[in-house]
Amino acid sequence: MSLDKKFQELFLKVSSRAAFSSYKLVGKKDKVSADKAAVDSMRLELNKIDMNGEIVIGEGELDEAPMLYIGEKLGTGNGPNLDIAVDPLEGTNFAANNLPGALSVIAVAEKSNLFNAPETYMAKISTNIKEKNVIDLDYHIKKNIYNLAEFKNKKPENITACILDRPRHKEIINELTNLKVKIKLITDGDVSGALLVTEEKYNVDIFLGIGGGPEGVLAAVALDAFDCNFQGRFLFDTEKDKKRAKKMGIIDLNKKYNLNEIVTGDSIFCATGITSGDLVSGIEIKSNEFLSETLVTHKSLGLRKKILIKQDI
Ligand code: FBP
Repeated sequence: MSLDKKFQELFLKVSSRAAFSSYKLVGKKDKVSADKAAVDSMRLELNKIDMNGEIVIGEGELDEAPMLYIGEKLGTGNGPNLDIAVDPLEGTNFAANNLPGALSVIAVAEKSNLFNAPETYMAKISTNIKEKNVIDLDYHIKKNIYNLAEFKNKKPENITACILDRPRHKEIINELTNLKVKIKLITDGDVSGALLVTEEKYNVDIFLGIGGGPEGVLAAVALDAFDCNFQGRFLFDTEKDKKRAKKMGIIDLNKKYNLNEIVTGDSIFCATGITSGDLVSGIEIKSNEFLSETLVTHKSLGLRKKILIKQDI
């Protein structure tokens, strides 16, 4: 089974309208309102689609988030059963402070084909190498970098690694520096960071480090469509996290997930720029219309393309 082509356009509209809603609050120093605008818009648009959709990755659980919570049912009820993962505003700091890289992101797969991820941190790694035993989350950094360099026929000093700029990454960053690897430090936005391995033009060979688990699953959907690789391991720091994970059916809390254990079958992914970043351009207003750029992938149809559309404000 695969997802009908018509869903590309429908979900593209969902992410682009959410991006536009959030765009109106860019630079207002108000993360919460910018996020809420994107959430409200996504929910409104998703409910217009003929589907039996269910949020598997969203804005928390019912008691924490009034909308787009995990388990929320969306759509008209007429149509296929779909798993939906959303990050209506990825990069709340970027939007609040009018910085590059804010996105609205949605990923969809057929029911039970998308990992139901808890809202915890995740150790992640992405590359464009599908071959086994070259790059692995469990290998030491040095081994991954040397393997990557050998595989790509480059010297380690010509390898670029992308990582979130966080104190928790101090050791990894020191290690990469000692190996003379070029580092692309990002202040936020690791969905985009993980996707920079998809095309040569971004000049990123490996993305690694700890970021949000939901962001990891969203990135994995696009990486799958680009025939790239991803591995992730959730990190459960508190008893509450551990309890929630068990409730979600995760038995081995230390499990390393391969890409095909996070997303299987067909999928559609849409990431629309709110402010311009490495991946896509931000919203532009043209009189009564707005222009948006969205990275869209549809795995079964081999679609992986940036799509510009104009819509009425
Ligand atoms: P928000 O949009 O929710 O603010 O997330 C931004 C982000 O940078 C994600 O891309 C990343 O996965 C996560 O935060 C990292 O978390 P932290 O800022 O706690 O290190």
